[in-house]
Amino acid sequence: MSEGKPIQCKAAVSYEAGKPLVVEEITVDAPKAHEVRIKIVNTAVCHTDAYTLSGVDPEGLFPCVLGHEGAGIVESVGEGVTNVKPGDHVIALYTAECKKCKFCLSGKTNLCGAVRATQGKGVMPDGTSRFHNKKGDTLYHFMGCSTFSEYTVVADVSVVAIDESAPLESVCLLGCGVTTGFGAATKTANVQEGDTVAVFGCGTVGLSVVQGAALRKASKIIAVDTNDQKKDYCFQFGATDFVNPKTDLKEGETIVSKLIDMTDGGLDHTFDCTGNTKVMRDALEACHKGWGQSIIIGVAAAGEEISTRPFQLVTGRVWKGSAFGGIKGRSEMGGLIEQYKRGDLKVDEFITHKREFDEINQAFDDLHKGECLRTVLNF
Ligand SMILES: NC(=O)c1ccc[n+]([C@@H]2O[C@H](COP(=O)([O-])OP(=O)(O)OC[C@H]3O[C@@H](n4cnc5c(N)ncnc54)[C@H](O)[C@@H]3O)[C@@H](O)[C@H]2O)c1
Ligand SMILES: [Zn+2]
Ligand SMILES: [Zn+2]
Repeated sequence: MSEGKPIQCKAAVSYEAGKPLVVEEITVDAPKAHEVRIKIVNTAVCHTDAYTLSGVDPEGLFPCVLGHEGAGIVESVGEGVTNVKPGDHVIALYTAECKKCKFCLSGKTNLCGAVRATQGKGVMPDGTSRFHNKKGDTLYHFMGCSTFSEYTVVADVSVVAIDESAPLESVCLLGCGVTTGFGAATKTANVQEGDTVAVFGCGTVGLSVVQGAALRKASKIIAVDTNDQKKDYCFQFGATDFVNPKTDLKEGETIVSKLIDMTDGGLDHTFDCTGNTKVMRDALEACHKGWGQSIIIGVAAAGEEISTRPFQLVTGRVWKGSAFGGIKGRSEMGGLIEQYKRGDLKVDEFITHKREFDEINQAFDDLHKGECLRTVLNF
């Protein structure tokens, strides 16, 4: 039994910004009070991992164990843990849910304050790390998850037990991208039957917005992407139209004017899933006067700012943002898994590549290929 003892296992360590990850053996300490040690079975690579690895993330800390889209099985739990037990199938949650803090009790947001401060500093709530390399150096945690390790330790508020019949290889994607887009459409924007929708950027996040809007029976779902390789995926996930702003605009036309023409005055809901602040402005300005709302999901580069003329808001357009699709991980993941099992929530369709964990650096390269939605790694 490994319970209560450190575990030696394989992990991908990020020692330096811009450098490949090093797959090596590390030590993962036993979980302390209110902590859970998880045997990660599958993890995927998301853009936020690449963003931090690139070095442009001002909050990035090295050396660290990246990864935040992961699923596995609880190996052991620390004192006082009641929400999961050894053997439970679980998804790690970078958006914690303590059910006790001001945020959790507000009923207005999925942001939770419980582990916020220490999570941002790359440590567990007691201020220390559970990861060490062979030289004895401490490795930082990442987003409260660190799924690029065969074993990881997370706070009990950062993990949810799920239905064991759901394949971990698929549902690991509910740890970030798929949930983010789906929640942004069905919860943050709350798209209704007959509404018109435009989605800027059709990677995993944008395509999951598309599927959420389709499930809600939006009348028009316009997918906007500068990469034609995304077109087939867009229709597969429920888009009714596809516009490539690089090639599909006539002389004098802008993406905003084209979208307004296509929808008799503008859209009920638009979504930025690119992280580009110019696109965010276009998404807002393509909204219908009086009520159109634009949801920012994309993560902009450090220091970037958004702008528009205030008149756009005075005349009724609304600018909002969404983190993790507004989904409360512990309360709502079960419902998403049920929707997945019923076939209402596509998840498997996002897995375009599968690799063994040792090929994790290739998985980062896959991200930059137009035809790749998600690469799932298997330990
Ligand atoms: N808010 C959150 O909780 C949250 C969670 C996960 C990811 N994100 C962010 O969401 C964004 C999308 O993530 P993803 O995994 O889908 O990324 P992705 O790179 O797979 O998809 C982005 C898509 O945008 C397209 N694109 C780029 N520039 C464009 C432009 N000017 N106009 C139209 N399309 C353009 C690309 O071709 C690509 O298809 C990223 O910024 C990511 O960091 C946010
Ligand atoms: Zn992510
Ligand atoms: Zn909370």
